[in-house]
Amino acid sequence: MAKPLPYLVSLLLCLSLAIPSGARDERGGLKRRRLENVKLFVFGDSYADTGNCPKSLASSWKEPYGITFPGEPAGRFSNGRVLTDYIASFLGIPSPLPYQLRKTGKESSALGMNFAYGGTGVFNTLAKEPNMTTQIDLFQQLVEEKLYTKQDLNSSIAVVSVGGNDYATHMATNGSLQATFTESVINQLAMNIKRIHGLGVRKVAVTTMEPLGCLPAITASNSHKNCSETENSLTEFHNQMLTKTVQNLNNETGNVAFGIIDLHRAFLSALKLRGNHTGSSKFESPLKPCCVGVEREYSCGSTDQMSGAKKYTVCEKPQLSFFWDMIHPSHQGYELLQ
Ligand SMILES: *[C@@H]1O[C@H](CO)[C@@H](O)[C@H](O)[C@H]1NC(C)=O
Ligand SMILES: *[C@@H]1O[C@H](CO)[C@@H](O)[C@H](O)[C@H]1NC(C)=O
Ligand SMILES: *[C@@H]1O[C@H](CO)[C@@H](O)[C@H](O)[C@H]1NC(C)=O
Ligand SMILES: *[C@@H]1O[C@H](CO)[C@@H](O)[C@H](O)[C@H]1NC(C)=O
Ligand SMILES: *[C@@H]1O[C@H](CO)[C@@H](O)[C@H](O)[C@H]1NC(C)=O
Ligand SMILES: *[C@@H]1O[C@H](CO)[C@@H](O)[C@H](O)[C@H]1NC(C)=O
Repeated sequence: MAKPLPYLVSLLLCLSLAIPSGARDERGGLKRRRLENVKLFVFGDSYADTGNCPKSLASSWKEPYGITFPGEPAGRFSNGRVLTDYIASFLGIPSPLPYQLRKTGKESSALGMNFAYGGTGVFNTLAKEPNMTTQIDLFQQLVEEKLYTKQDLNSSIAVVSVGGNDYATHMATNGSLQATFTESVINQLAMNIKRIHGLGVRKVAVTTMEPLGCLPAITASNSHKNCSETENSLTEFHNQMLTKTVQNLNNETGNVAFGIIDLHRAFLSALKLRGNHTGSSKFESPLKPCCVGVEREYSCGSTDQMSGAKKYTVCEKPQLSFFWDMIHPSHQGYELLQ
C-alpha cells in the first residue's frame, strides 16, 4: 500500500504537568462523577501519553505542541489536552502523572499513573519506547513495591489506548495486512488486559480504534476530502473482534471487569461523517489538520537542523480544526469526543 503510513509511526512517537485541576475549563455537557479515591492507570500510545516520551526525541516536547494548553510544549501530542486528561476529568480527578515524571513518595502517585508512550503498540513498533507488555511490567513493579494497596487497586480504573501503531508498523514493514494479524493483536491485547485486572485493578476499559482511514496521514492523498474505506474497514474488523473478545472475557469472569470506550464512534460523530459530510460538522474541513510540515519530508514541529528555522505551518484558528497534526486530534477535537 503506497500510503504515507510511516507518518502513523513517526508521529505517534512519544509529558507532564500536574494539572492542578484536570476538569478546570471543561464546558457543560460532561457529567462529572467524583468517585471515592479512584485512581486512573493508563497504558498505550500517543492518544494517551501525557509526557513519557523522551524530551530529546519526541515532537510532543517541541513547538508548536501544547500552544493552546498549557501554552508551551509539555509532552502531549496535541495543541492541548489529550484523551487521558478528558477521561480523568470525567472521573472527577486531575490527570495522573506520567511514569517518567513521577517523584518518589505517595503523593506523586495518588491519582494513579500514566504508563502510555507515544508510538508504541502491543507488539514492538518502530518506536523504541516500551511496548504495552513492558508498560505493564513497570506497573507491576510499583504494585510489588507496595506503592498501591489492594484497596487502592480495587477502586481503580485502567484505560488502554493501543493498536494503531501495531497496524502502521505491520503495513510499513510487511505490506498488506491479513486477518491473522488482527487476531494476534487482539489476542495479545486480551492477555494484557487480563494481566492488568489480575494485578487487582477493578475495571479495565479499552478504546476502540479510531477510524484510521480518516486520519490526515491517510487522507492526504485526496487533499483531506474523503476517508479511505480500506483502512476504515480494517479498523471496523479490529473493533468488532475487540468488542466480542471483551464480551467473552466478561462472560468468563462472570463480572463486568472489562469495558469498551468507543473512540471510533466518538470520532465519527464528532466529524459528522455519517451520511452528509459537508458543512454539517462544526469544522470547515473536518479532515484537514491544523499543523503541517511545509513539505512532505517535514511534519508538525520540524525545524531545519542547521538554522533551526520552522519547517511547519500552523492554521490561524486551531479551535476550528478537529485534527491537530497528521495523526492526532486537536484539543478541541478531543473535547468533542466526550
Ligand atoms: C515487548 O518488548 C520486550 C522488550 O523489547 C520484548 O522482549 C517483548 O517480546 C515485547 N512483547 C511483545 C508482546 O511484543
Ligand atoms: C473490591 O470491592 C468490592 C466492592 O466494594 C468488594 O466486594 C470486593 O470484595 C473487593 N475486593 C477486594 C480484593 O478487596
Ligand atoms: C511481518 O510478517 C511476519 C510473517 O507473517 C511476522 O512474523 C512479523 O511479525 C510481521 N511483522 C510485523 C511488524 O508485523
Ligand atoms: C468522496 O466521497 C463522495 C461521496 O461518498 C464521492 O462522491 C466522491 O467521489 C469521493 N471523492 C473522492 C476524491 O474519493
Ligand atoms: C457465556 O457463557 C455461557 C457458558 O459459559 C454460554 O452458554 C453463553 O452463550 C455465553 N454468552 C455469551 C454472550 O457469550
Ligand atoms: C447535506 O447538507 C446540505 C447543507 O446543509 C443540505 O442542503 C443537503 O440537503 C444535505 N443532504 C442530505 C442528503 O442530507
